[in-house]
Amino acid sequence: MKFFIDTANIDEIREAASMGLLDGVTTNPSLVAKEGKNFRELLNEILEIVDGPISAEVVSTDFKGIMKEAKELAAIHKNIVIKIPLIQEGIKAVKALSSEGIKTNVTLCFSASQAILAAKAGATYISPFVGRLDDISHSGMQLIDQIVTIYRNYGFETQVLVASIRHPLHLVEAAEIGADVATIPFGVIKKLFNHPLTKSGLEKFLSDWKTLEE
Ligand code: G3P
Repeated sequence: MKFFIDTANIDEIREAASMGLLDGVTTNPSLVAKEGKNFRELLNEILEIVDGPISAEVVSTDFKGIMKEAKELAAIHKNIVIKIPLIQEGIKAVKALSSEGIKTNVTLCFSASQAILAAKAGATYISPFVGRLDDISHSGMQLIDQIVTIYRNYGFETQVLVASIRHPLHLVEAAEIGADVATIPFGVIKKLFNHPLTKSGLEKFLSDWKTLEE
C-alpha cells in the first residue's frame, strides 16, 4: 500500500518524508489556498522534497481549459500527476491525457459509476472521498470495497487512491480491502503511531532500566 500525504504544507511534507514512509503527495485548491503561496513555486518546493507522484489540480471546468492547464502542469516535472474533477469535461480530458501518456488523478469521486468512468477513460488514480461520504451518512468504505471489486473484475489498471481520510481506521479498513494508495492528512499520519500500551510499556522499560544505573 502506498502512502501519500494530503497537504500543501511544506513543513508537514518535510516531516512526513523524514519518516521514510512517504510515496507521494496530493494537493487540492483548498489546501494550496491555505498556504497562500504561488502554486508553481509551491510545487517546485514539494518536488525537491519528494521523489514520487505529486498531484496538482486544475481549476478549469471546460475541456480546452483543463487540457491547457494539464499540459502546463505536466511540463513542470515527470512526477506531476494532473488532478481533474469527475465531470464530463474532466473525463474527456482524462481520456485525451492518458492517450498522451500524461498521468491523471480523478478527484471528487463519490460513486462506483463515477469510478467506472474514470477507469474507462484511463485514469492513473481514482480518488473516492471517504470522509465526506461518512459526513453525509453514506459509507465511504463501502464505496472503496465496491470500486476495488469492480476494478478487479475487469482488470482495470486505475489505482484506487483513498482520499478524505479522517482517522486511522479509514486507513486500516482501506488496507483490508486492498486499496492501492491512501492519501493521509499529517495529523492522521501522526496518530498511526499511537497506542497507549506502547506508551506505558516504554515508560516501564525505561524506568526499570534506570534502577540498574542507580
Ligand atoms: O484532497 C482530497 C481530499 O483528501 C480532501 O479531504 O478532508 O477535505 O474531505 P477533505
